[in-house]
Amino acid sequence: MTCRKFDHTSRRRFIAAGLAALASGLGLAKPYFSRAGETTALRKLAAEKGLLYGTTISAGQITGDPSFVDLVLQQTGLVVAENEMKWQVMNRGTRGNDDYGPADTVAAFALENDLTLRGHNLLWYYRTPSWFFDLTSRPEIEGAIVERVRGLAGRYRGMVHSWDVVNEPIEPKDGRPDGLRTGVFLEMFGPDYLDLAYRTAREADPAARLVINEYDVELDAPEQEARRTALLNLLERMQRSATPVDAVGIQAHLCCAGGPPFSAPRFRRFLADVAGLGLTIQITELDVTDEHAPADEAVRDRLVADTYSRFLEAALDESAVKMVVTWGLSDRHSWIVRRETHESKWRTDGLPSRPLPFDAELKPKPAFDAVAQAFVHAPQRAAG
Ligand code: XIL
Repeated sequence: MTCRKFDHTSRRRFIAAGLAALASGLGLAKPYFSRAGETTALRKLAAEKGLLYGTTISAGQITGDPSFVDLVLQQTGLVVAENEMKWQVMNRGTRGNDDYGPADTVAAFALENDLTLRGHNLLWYYRTPSWFFDLTSRPEIEGAIVERVRGLAGRYRGMVHSWDVVNEPIEPKDGRPDGLRTGVFLEMFGPDYLDLAYRTAREADPAARLVINEYDVELDAPEQEARRTALLNLLERMQRSATPVDAVGIQAHLCCAGGPPFSAPRFRRFLADVAGLGLTIQITELDVTDEHAPADEAVRDRLVADTYSRFLEAALDESAVKMVVTWGLSDRHSWIVRRETHESKWRTDGLPSRPLPFDAELKPKPAFDAVAQAFVHAPQRAAG
């Protein structure tokens, strides 16, 4: 068995050969196989049930953290760039001036190691470059959206399993009857920015599954129920307009204490409603924060693991669920743990959070067992 790591030489060879050529199979390295005797691979347990299991990764981790890369290769069958494909992150300040380097690093890593690649994301109100806000005429705005979607989805055509075409389009609190978020695209173009984006994405990469990715649709709270309803209404509306959409992405950023309750039957009903529209479902950003849990590490780890168990048991009961992605694999690289993200999910006692299946030393935690057991007990499904 060989452990094949990603290195600069092969990356240069990869880039030089051209992404599209490599996608068709030329020059691909052998896939990685985990070494005997190591921790069970989540990707294998998932695959046995027709599920894909994956994680975020960053270009910096690929080039700078070989032990983490080893763990990713051992455990996962899919990667998604944590930030590298977001428009504002890629853009150098002016229209059309995007840096594809870090995104290519992630795409190349996936291809070289025979990992499925998720695309995240084509449009997100929260990560739109500032020059876009200065556009005024409708044709100009339309042109910029089309350019963005064609540019990114077209570059990786044939390589991406699923694209989050629009990230987080719903916000019932914004007060519109349709529950759509009044973010930059809606305000500047109107609600049909969604149709424009999904149609353009389908043209740019006909093989990719087109996903609507949304958060806060998991729990038993009135605002989350409103978000679920608005999302279902949007999906029906898009289907009536023959706008292509294939799957719903459920982010599933959960917390193990102090949040709204989780009702398995209610969540299960929502999944059945989505499946009833003929769509598949992906769990796209699963992690479990512990900011309101007691300091004791064993207690916290138990609470986090129990949250993974209860959520995944309900989610995987629905056979339209085809994919589980955790937003990171090890607590070493989690957006919850990194203070510079200025998110409000840190612990106030200064202890680092422990939201993912592996700890910062890359050792499996109870959360790992919870995910593994959920895959073991999941009903079989057709891959999708
Ligand atoms: C997060 C990244 O993990 C952070 O590194 C970054 O600072 C902010 O964005 N929902 C999404 C993801 O769709 O893109 C976000 O990722 C987490 C919330």
